Amino acid sequence: MRGQVILSPFHFEPYIFRMSMREKLELLQQKRSESEQGGGTDRIATQHQKGKMTARERLDVLLDPGTFVELDRFVTHRATDFGLADQKVLGDGVVTGWGRVEGRLVYVFSQDFTVFGGSLSEAHAEKICKVMDLAVQNGAPVVGLNDSGGARIQEGVASLGGYADIFLRNTLASGVVPQISAILGPCAGGAVYSPAITDFIFMVRGISYMFVTGPNVVKTVTHEEVDFEKLGGADVHGGTSGIAHFVHDSELESITAIRTLLGFLPGNNLDSPPVRQSDDPSDRREEALLEVVPDEPTKPYDMHEVLKHVIDNGKFLEVQPDYGSNLIVGFARLAGRPVGIVANQPAALAGVLDIAASLKGARFIRFCDAFNVPLVTFEDVPGFLPGVAQEHGGIIKHGAKLLYAYCEATVPKLTVITRKAYGGAYDVMSSRHIRGDYNVAWPSAEIAVMGPKGAVEILYKGEASDERTNEYREKFAHPYQAAARGYLDDIIDPRDTRPRLIEALITLDTKRAKNPPKKHGNIPL
Ligand code: HXC
Repeated sequence: MRGQVILSPFHFEPYIFRMSMREKLELLQQKRSESEQGGGTDRIATQHQKGKMTARERLDVLLDPGTFVELDRFVTHRATDFGLADQKVLGDGVVTGWGRVEGRLVYVFSQDFTVFGGSLSEAHAEKICKVMDLAVQNGAPVVGLNDSGGARIQEGVASLGGYADIFLRNTLASGVVPQISAILGPCAGGAVYSPAITDFIFMVRGISYMFVTGPNVVKTVTHEEVDFEKLGGADVHGGTSGIAHFVHDSELESITAIRTLLGFLPGNNLDSPPVRQSDDPSDRREEALLEVVPDEPTKPYDMHEVLKHVIDNGKFLEVQPDYGSNLIVGFARLAGRPVGIVANQPAALAGVLDIAASLKGARFIRFCDAFNVPLVTFEDVPGFLPGVAQEHGGIIKHGAKLLYAYCEATVPKLTVITRKAYGGAYDVMSSRHIRGDYNVAWPSAEIAVMGPKGAVEILYKGEASDERTNEYREKFAHPYQAAARGYLDDIIDPRDTRPRLIEALITLDTKRAKNPPKKHGNIPL
């Protein structure tokens, strides 16, 4: 029997009818506080023992103090099988409503693991659908704090139907309002597919797990022995599968980071992202940028160094830092305006584009484009990664996703080539040809079909020589040929990167660009 058992509200009716207003208010107060007890004190204690916050404690961290307005606290499930008729908990395992983050409206749901393991009943799903509908109608983000054992087993198909209702809303809301999911418990089955459709997934080490089927089912079906952590822990999804965009050590850090992310995002696809006052001068020139790119063309350097010196106060919210780390993506500000940064990382795999980097970049670019966040690309890329594993893994279709995403994007697109822009990767990385709005290079840029050594080996077969390599290098290992054709708008002093980008970004505030009308494109999936 559940710790928190209530009778159907209908039982109260004759008594309520006879009550005075004060008695009715007392009952209301009693019911309201009952609805805040979830699965009862024992289960709340168990939740705390696991190092987890309760659904309501999480909302306290997420929302500005005193701004939460709860909906549907008196909802209960309508199931009767498996003894559920007398196991009803007010709210039915999910706390829903709206609140404010830095004063801006956000719709929320927070699953309560103390009530049937946060599992999703028909009524529980209806509550989530209600806040999603309101979010889309009123143009505000939805944040879901997930802590759920999946479909409520006792409810059967009613629960599955509830999941499908949520999946449909996730899909229809995609590109209309930002959708953010925090995974704050063992999320299994249907509990992973709704987050998977949302824009960003946050996980916490040692607390969050995501899998379609848990270790026991895996053992039965595939005979693999694997524990929760190795199957679907935060680091697995942050590093190997790329499912999680942000991984933290505690719930507090994770939920606080959701607030930070929301600070970069508009409420919906018709709004602009929130501009803030910046105390970092727009005309700041940076001497250090002269020293970042090594003279030796094959020597790696950390692209974060470039970003740090260009963006407002060096503040960067990196997305998926441990997945496909040869491409850096994340949010920053230029003159207070939110921008999405996409940057090759020469310090990892020489900044090459592989499957993981392509997937990561494509998804990020499409998010930014959907929500009017301008894209700033920093380019130093030797090309797509060759090899059997990449080819058989589908680098053609995955690389095409990145290309498609950049081509399709109509937000302002600014590109700075710091060093290499070789081969197809030159075209892909927001080149002028695919509607880059402001494309510049540093004098250290090399724009060519491939590196001089490889080029000469192909052109001269067995007769490649240092002399021929140097000849090719002299011809192409600079940005002037591209600039001569107008493929680059300018070649700039690296120290001027920040002021030049800001100047261009401001001119693009009024950019108008549209793709041809269509039902939807067919991105190579
Ligand atoms: C009903 C559930 C439940 C569920 C957990 N509980 N999952 N009740 N439906 N799906 C209840 C438990 O009975 C228990 O109740 C309480 O929640 C806490 O669960 P524990 O097992 O004690 O907790 P823990 O040891 O932490 O394990 C958590 C767990 C495990 C890993 C989530 O409970 C589990 O494996 N649950 C089932 C997961 C699953 O297979 N779900 C269905 C997936 S299919 P008491 O009363 O003891 O507190 C699915 C289909 C949708 O989702 C597909 C759409 C595409």
